[in-house]
Amino acid sequence: MTEGPLLNRLLITGAAGQLGRMARQKARPLARHIRLSDVADLAPADDHEEIVSCDLGDKEAVSALVEGCDGILHLGGISVEDHFSKILNSNIVGVFNLYEAARHHGMPRIIFASSNHAIGFHKQDVQLDASAMMRPDGLYGVSKCYGENMASLYHDKFGQETLIVRIGSCTPEPRDHRMLATWLSEDDFISLITCAFRAPRLGCPVVYGASNNDACWWDNGAAKYLGWCPKDNSEEFRTKLDREQQRPDPNDARSLYQGGVFTEDPIYPD
Ligand SMILES: NC(=O)c1ccc[n+]([C@@H]2O[C@H](COP(=O)([O-])OP(=O)(O)OC[C@H]3O[C@@H](n4cnc5c(N)ncnc54)[C@H](O)[C@@H]3O)[C@@H](O)[C@H]2O)c1
Repeated sequence: MTEGPLLNRLLITGAAGQLGRMARQKARPLARHIRLSDVADLAPADDHEEIVSCDLGDKEAVSALVEGCDGILHLGGISVEDHFSKILNSNIVGVFNLYEAARHHGMPRIIFASSNHAIGFHKQDVQLDASAMMRPDGLYGVSKCYGENMASLYHDKFGQETLIVRIGSCTPEPRDHRMLATWLSEDDFISLITCAFRAPRLGCPVVYGASNNDACWWDNGAAKYLGWCPKDNSEEFRTKLDREQQRPDPNDARSLYQGGVFTEDPIYPD
């Protein structure tokens, strides 16, 4: 028997961004309709798509955006270290607006794109699981900790389900030696999203978004019930990386900390 789409209408925020553009293509089978949203311009809609321009900081607009959706892939927001005022609007106010909108519109499941930068000041020789202490490596990382806590609050208070994904580095291939441990292939990310929407019970788990890499800092044992089995392994790129790049010095932030060079970013003045 062939399985129909898991969702009727999937909302993808941040749809104009790197992961949003990828998900627009690869998450296509998940839903009958896909609502794509961003503040930036998006390519014209296909038959199954709707395009809604929306600033996540605008409460009424986010409420209208979420209405009618039965799943949300929340990728929108500031995705690197930046000025606090920008992080405040997109990642702090924006996340609150999203959870309030979800609460008022049937509590669709949310995939929250958190980041390894929520735990970036942990050393690379430490193995982390879902219970690890948050150790953000910048204001961006702090905003991801806040988003994770918002997900936890709305789960405990209202039963809102969220998959919190601490994405490592979701790129077509690892771009440096640190990414041998943090790499998440696009296909493995899509299979994780699929597992989260398919699971009979999701809850509010923290999952480290990394492929089945030989180099591994993270233990996803607590989320085994989701049935996610990442297939790709960054090891196939090691020889190429060794050929093209020098390994960083062992005392370099890129070798010391899970968050790599983000640990060296300044606090940008507003
Ligand atoms: N790409 C990765 O490897 C990676 C790693 C860790 C975490 N993440 C997280 O995944 C998500 C997607 O990452 P990405 O690499 O595609 O980032 P990206 O910067 O390419 O895309 C983010 C999108 O969000 C939009 N956006 C920002 N502020 C907004 C606002 N106020 N209202 C509406 N839209 C707004 C931007 O216009 C952009 O198109 C981000 O939340 C990021 O923090 C990504």
